[in-house]
Amino acid sequence: MTRADSVAQASSGRQSGLLHLAATSGAVLMQRGPFISLYHPRSPGVVIITTITSLTEFGPTMNARFPAAAPLDRVAELVAVHRDRPGALLPLLHDIQDALGYVPAAAVETIAGALNLSRAEVHGVLTYYHHFRTEPTGGVVVQVCRAEACRACGSEALFEHAQQVLARPGTPSCHLESVYCLGLCASSPAMMVGDKLHARMTPEKFDRVIAAQGATA
Ligand code: FES
Repeated sequence: MTRADSVAQASSGRQSGLLHLAATSGAVLMQRGPFISLYHPRSPGVVIITTITSLTEFGPTMNARFPAAAPLDRVAELVAVHRDRPGALLPLLHDIQDALGYVPAAAVETIAGALNLSRAEVHGVLTYYHHFRTEPTGGVVVQVCRAEACRACGSEALFEHAQQVLARPGTPSCHLESVYCLGLCASSPAMMVGDKLHARMTPEKFDRVIAAQGATA
């Protein structure tokens, strides 16, 4: 075996060891400056387990599995809040998305370990509901309702208008999504911008709401 072979083998063994440790303990692996640390939401303090020198050995796989520390820190805090509650998965996913704007794919392993579920179960719930995102969005989230009541009151035209307006240069950065009922059926068509609901929308009202986003950005 050459030296390069033995380094590659040691690297691969260390990587799977770290992943196994995190998966079985419910802990989170994070990069903090030059260190990779193991953080457990139930235990104060952080255990430093390897250094950036080793991180570079892991290459792109490591980068993909361990995004920036801050989102996973927040995930760990929320897991600690929910882990002993019955039926914790959906409330936990909602809280993570409310806090971060998305549920990081790297959090699935941590959530599964903490709630005693399989990764497939967590992934299944996360991908079943259109509400959940696994990637951060660019800009404020604009959700136009395209369910029956809103559709009957012009939401398809409103959605097309939104696509055109948001594609224009100089428009505030927004992420446009379709949703299917915002609970405002009696005041259709409805939409949501960030966490604010808007009822009886028209293209003109849409333009004003989006322009106000630029003013408040
Ligand atoms: S159908 Fe649009 S809010 Fe219910």
